[in-house]
Amino acid sequence: MTKIIDGKAISAQIKEELKEKVAKLKTEGIEVTLAVIQVGCDPASSVYVRNKKRACEEIGIRSLAFELEEDTTERELLNLVEELNGRDDVNGILVQLPLPGHIEEEKVLNAIHPSKDVDGFHPQNVGALCIGKAGFVSCTPAGIIQLLKRSGVEIAGKECVVVGRSNIVGKPMALLLLRENATVTVAHSRTIDLREVTKRADILVVAVGKPKMITAEYVKDGAVVIDVGIHRNENNKLCGDVDYDDVAQKCSAITPVPGGVGPMTIAMLMNNCVESVSLQRRQ
Ligand code: GUN
Repeated sequence: MTKIIDGKAISAQIKEELKEKVAKLKTEGIEVTLAVIQVGCDPASSVYVRNKKRACEEIGIRSLAFELEEDTTERELLNLVEELNGRDDVNGILVQLPLPGHIEEEKVLNAIHPSKDVDGFHPQNVGALCIGKAGFVSCTPAGIIQLLKRSGVEIAGKECVVVGRSNIVGKPMALLLLRENATVTVAHSRTIDLREVTKRADILVVAVGKPKMITAEYVKDGAVVIDVGIHRNENNKLCGDVDYDDVAQKCSAITPVPGGVGPMTIAMLMNNCVESVSLQRRQ
């Protein structure tokens, strides 16, 4: 029987645990606070920002919303980030991406103080992950590790293949799996025989951004398959990078879309907000 890894249930469990931690911090006089900055009104970004605010409310984290006009200058945005960096009552800062074209994203993300970078995008945090030091980890790959661990999937010693090499998912995913003592391969669009590589995987993580690209012939019998993709198909139904109906029968465990990796990203953002308190205490 194929196990369906329930990201909704696991993320709910994590949020319950965080609720308790936030309440305990409150008794110590600490109100965990996340500042969320959105520039412009991209509809998808507005949905993400709303979901993040809602998760904060659920857990008891204070959220501060900064909704800036589309024509905000890079300097104005940097000034706001610098102001928030300096505020003792702000633990986490998140600048929702994408930013309007006239603003250089990298410059803005690099301006967030590493101890408040709850997205885990700052080079200092990426570097810390690389050399095994404490720091924030990008939320989606951190959530995938939690999905695996809390579903009882052994990672140490396993052949793991990550398909996709983005800075936000593929690369940190590979580093996290390595940290868990897996043998890790990163495949990507230039991999010569992708099928041959993915068929080696005991754990296959797919973040390619192509609907239903991974079919059963890419998957070893009994593999654990994690699908990071989210797309709308021709019937307006959500689907992932993995052809779920084709692959599910062949693997031992699989994440559905929706309800797999998706809910974990926000849960791990909330986790990073709570972690930020102890990271800042150490500064
Ligand atoms: N836009 C889409 N996903 C994300 C995310 O995880 N963080 C930020 N800051 N922006 C995003």
